[in-house]
Amino acid sequence: MTQLAGRDMTTLKDYDVDDLYMIFDTARQMKLEWKRGQRHPILQDRTLAMFFEIPSTRTSISFETAMTQLGGHGIYLSPGRTWIKIEESWRDAMRVIDRYVDGITARLMEHSVLEQIAEWAKVPVINASDDWEHPCQALTDFFTFFERRRRFEGAKWVAAWGYRESTAPIGLVHSSLYIAPRLGIDYVIAAPKGYEPDPKVLEFAKKEAEVTGAKIEFVDNLEEAVEGADVINIYSYVAPKYFRMALDAYKKTGKYAAPAPHVTNPEKYKHWKVTDEHVDRAKRNVMVMHCMPVARGEECDDSVVDGPRSVMIDEAENRLHVQKAILALLLGGYPGK
Ligand code: CP
Repeated sequence: MTQLAGRDMTTLKDYDVDDLYMIFDTARQMKLEWKRGQRHPILQDRTLAMFFEIPSTRTSISFETAMTQLGGHGIYLSPGRTWIKIEESWRDAMRVIDRYVDGITARLMEHSVLEQIAEWAKVPVINASDDWEHPCQALTDFFTFFERRRRFEGAKWVAAWGYRESTAPIGLVHSSLYIAPRLGIDYVIAAPKGYEPDPKVLEFAKKEAEVTGAKIEFVDNLEEAVEGADVINIYSYVAPKYFRMALDAYKKTGKYAAPAPHVTNPEKYKHWKVTDEHVDRAKRNVMVMHCMPVARGEECDDSVVDGPRSVMIDEAENRLHVQKAILALLLGGYPGK
């Protein structure tokens, strides 16, 4: 058994540098082996319950495919498929479901609910994104860099906020802040004032950075931030309170909407768009990422999405390989079993 067997992944706050490299090394090895035709029936006869309160293309399909490729099965559970939140509490449901399944992944509106689920369920619980974190995406982004460069220390990683009409949660930035300094990465958040990460997360990251010598910065100037960057990771988000408002609106009207500053006053924010000029200010071999779905023409130009320095589609593919590693390690105890 490895140190990850049986662990939850609701947050990356408690994943240390050894844990992170174990995930990256496992993902790399399993990806290479899979492409050579080797199969990994590590989770034969195992089942993953997959709760999705809100839509997902990549996370839901890659988790379900990951379970298939590992010899097990994923059950996609959308709202209304179970009695949860209709006739039954999460707590009662968890007391039953963890007798059926070997792991749970959930994309919920509130991180606090996910934490409770992790308390109640006796099987590993994996965060598929919520209003606080998106661990699988952050691990995938860093893995996408790792498999090409093999070395994190000293890399300049820019989380570039991009204008878009929608109101996504901040999770990717929080999860990245927990692990970037541990990997020795200089992590720069380029976003308008008012779009700062939660102060507790920022403070935690800065303390971690003191240990490794990494830098953590927030700047409200995109041109300045991308200068000499190794990675430009484009992402649009709102503060958790606006995300919750957007979800409430979605439940009532079917449309995500919240009075976030860039929604009420778009003209003030529309210049937050990554263009080829920004990419040219970065290092020649910069990797341009976006977790997708991408708002073409709003957050960034088409030429950035489709250009030679974009790794967005490889990044999306890597969701599958990284989640296979996470499932194999947490649910299967791979490779120690
Ligand atoms: N990046 C990401 O989480 O994509 P989905 O919302 O499609 O799952």
